[in-house]
Amino acid sequence: MYTLILNGSPRRGGDTSALIGAFCREIRGQVEQIDAYGMKISPCVDCRRCAGGGGCVLNDGMQEIYEKVRMAQVLVLASPLYFSTLTGPLLSLCSRFQAQYMARQKEKRGWEQTKGGLVLLTGGGSTKDPSCAFQTARIVLREMGAGQIRQVASIGTDHLPAREDEEALRQAMAAAREFNSMFA
Ligand SMILES: Cc1cc2nc3c(=O)[nH]c(=O)nc-3n(C[C@H](O)[C@H](O)[C@H](O)COP(=O)(O)O)c2cc1C
Repeated sequence: MYTLILNGSPRRGGDTSALIGAFCREIRGQVEQIDAYGMKISPCVDCRRCAGGGGCVLNDGMQEIYEKVRMAQVLVLASPLYFSTLTGPLLSLCSRFQAQYMARQKEKRGWEQTKGGLVLLTGGGSTKDPSCAFQTARIVLREMGAGQIRQVASIGTDHLPAREDEEALRQAMAAAREFNSMFA
């Protein structure tokens, strides 16, 4: 089993990392993490080249990520809430899945949605409701081919850091175990 984690947190050892760590303690197989802040992936510029079947005009690290997404059985989107949604660099990276969306539209083929998906969110507490970010992340995961999508949030990290949020850590580990049996 191959799991790809797209991490939208700029903070090493921060709250999002704590949830990722709990998930990684349980998930079996090969796990790879891509940190959106370190990748310098350009956002989609809506040039419409992919709509004509020409693929993406931007030539950066994204081609490699497309291939990793294609290979993964489990996809994880992990992010702190920034103004109730995913962080900018992660959204920029995700905007590039538009090229695949357009290619599928042109060829009139849908996603198989055979992969497992997981959303891991953290929030300091200024917005108690993570539903906006969950919705965005689920839409992106579906575009990436995930059918079975789970979600975990640790909200209120200003008062209880995610590494001490036992319920969220437990849920992240439980999701990993579920994927282990789904893709054994
Ligand atoms: C620019 C910015 C915007 C933020 N917006 C929100 C928000 O809308 N809701 C919220 O609950 N927390 C918000 N936070 C707090 C972070 O989501 C929170 O501290 C999180 O636990 C950080 O995770 P990390 O350590 O993985 O980076 C924001 C933080 C920053 C820097």
